Amino acid sequence: MLPFQLISSDIAKQKELHQIYMSEQGILYQGDCLQLLSALPDESVDLIFADPPFNLGKDYGEGINDQMELDKYLDWSQQWLSQCIRVIKPGGSLFVFNLPKWCVEYGAYLNRRGMCFRHWVACRMPKAFPRGKKMSPAHYGLLYYTKGEPAVFNKVYTPIQVCRHCSGEIRDYGGHRKSLNEKGINLMDVWDMPEDVWENTPEADPTEVLWTLAEEMWTDIPPVRHHRHKKRIPNELAPIMLERIIAMASNPGQIVVDPFGGSGTTFYAAEKLHRYWIGSEIGDTEAAVDRLTDLTNGIVEEWESARGRKKLKQPKTTTSQLSIL
Ligand SMILES: C[S@@+](CC[C@H](N)C(=O)[O-])C[C@H]1O[C@@H](n2cnc3c(N)ncnc32)[C@H](O)[C@@H]1O
Repeated sequence: MLPFQLISSDIAKQKELHQIYMSEQGILYQGDCLQLLSALPDESVDLIFADPPFNLGKDYGEGINDQMELDKYLDWSQQWLSQCIRVIKPGGSLFVFNLPKWCVEYGAYLNRRGMCFRHWVACRMPKAFPRGKKMSPAHYGLLYYTKGEPAVFNKVYTPIQVCRHCSGEIRDYGGHRKSLNEKGINLMDVWDMPEDVWENTPEADPTEVLWTLAEEMWTDIPPVRHHRHKKRIPNELAPIMLERIIAMASNPGQIVVDPFGGSGTTFYAAEKLHRYWIGSEIGDTEAAVDRLTDLTNGIVEEWESARGRKKLKQPKTTTSQLSIL
């Protein structure tokens, strides 16, 4: 079934899902995630990516509460996670991005519900300020679960972080570079030795500079801080992250769902990689619509990788910053 056939206009109306954008590949509804998910038939989608509000009191616009009581936030999270489990096809994948504090709770729930744990991917978060008696938080968790054995797992290769022969910095500290303490940076809760990923691998693609299999720690997802890249505030993700997830856990022609659409990063990546998609966003959808409209008009985003490959321009038919065997 195509995404357009999964939710009838009657059901959409009943669930107060307002169709805001439609392309040949997908539909974006303005509406509540629970309404969208509950409108989808059982076992009808291949991949769900969820980047919910982190309950940090961010301002997502009128009527969106990002500061719930602990129990309420967890109860709400379990409701949408439960719907995700219901609508994912056997072998389909669920990715959830959040603070480690919530990932622990999500993981325990998903384990209890019989989902198959694949990975906890640590995505480096370059801004790292210690608060109180704590280390600097240095990563967000990206949980990767499947419903049974994965139906699709494409090996994704990513470029080596930097050339060891050049003197460029490994990490992108964004606007914080100037404020780093000369004595060094605070101890982080992701402890990695970048040298580890400099080794060439047997799987590396010899036609490219140096490629390595994607690891459980992603240190190359740039923060979206630069105004010229930012489509909206807050918490827009970099397309490279969604491209990697979609390329790894789905095939062209399959259906990707994002219930917390935000600026439309998932839909943008799904369009580029020729997947069908369905999404909802309860708040402002303008940024997502602008972005998708630009893509339809052939305007692709220039994106900087934290690894020094800068300003890649890609036609719609190619994938950026990744290689799949
Ligand atoms: C962390 S942001 C997602 C950002 C997105 N991944 C991107 O790259 O732009 C969470 C989004 O969920 C939306 N949201 C919050 N509660 C929602 C709900 N109940 N249903 C649908 N969307 C919701 C917020 O408005 C916000 O845009």
